[in-house]
Amino acid sequence: MPKSLYYIVLMALIFSCNSTEKAEKTTTIVDGRERYDVYQGSEMANLMRGMHAFNLQLKKEVESGKVTTEFPEEFLKIHTAEFSESKSRNETFDHYSGQFIEAQKLVFAEDSIVALSERYNSAINLCISCHQTECTGPIPKIKKLLIK
Ligand code: HEC
Repeated sequence: MPKSLYYIVLMALIFSCNSTEKAEKTTTIVDGRERYDVYQGSEMANLMRGMHAFNLQLKKEVESGKVTTEFPEEFLKIHTAEFSESKSRNETFDHYSGQFIEAQKLVFAEDSIVALSERYNSAINLCISCHQTECTGPIPKIKKLLIK
């Protein structure tokens, strides 16, 4: 197996909520010579990875003081996306997802008197708050998004 694939599988194991659900969430890719068991996330897990990637880019923009992107409407899927089998939507999730979406939208508000980096960090802190309630695995990765 190429090193890069080991890396992807390892990342999936480290950064998802817990590793017990991995067995049910892998899919096998055969490329003729080798079989790879590749981690396949739920709709929610994929959305989360997209949100992470987006905020990684956004962090750079915020640090440079100029935001050129817009609030991604896709993020609203947080209200409907399906979870991994071991998880489900509950009141705590709905509470934090609502707060997170509001905070993320504020990063793009042009008329705010609150500093851009502060608004950005508020959104990221809400990622962390929600994760502290039921999905602690990705927290170290999310913390790296914070602007110090
Ligand atoms: C309202 C709660 C909530 C908020 C807000 C939230 N998350 Fe999550 N996150 C979850 C849950 C629950 C899962 C597990 C989803 C699943 O396995 O189906 C998850 C999964 C993840 C994962 C692991 C995905 C994988 O590969 O399995 C990452 C990374 C992640 N979130 C990053 C973030 C980032 C970055 C933010 C903010 C931009 C964020 N999350 C905001 C609840 C939240």
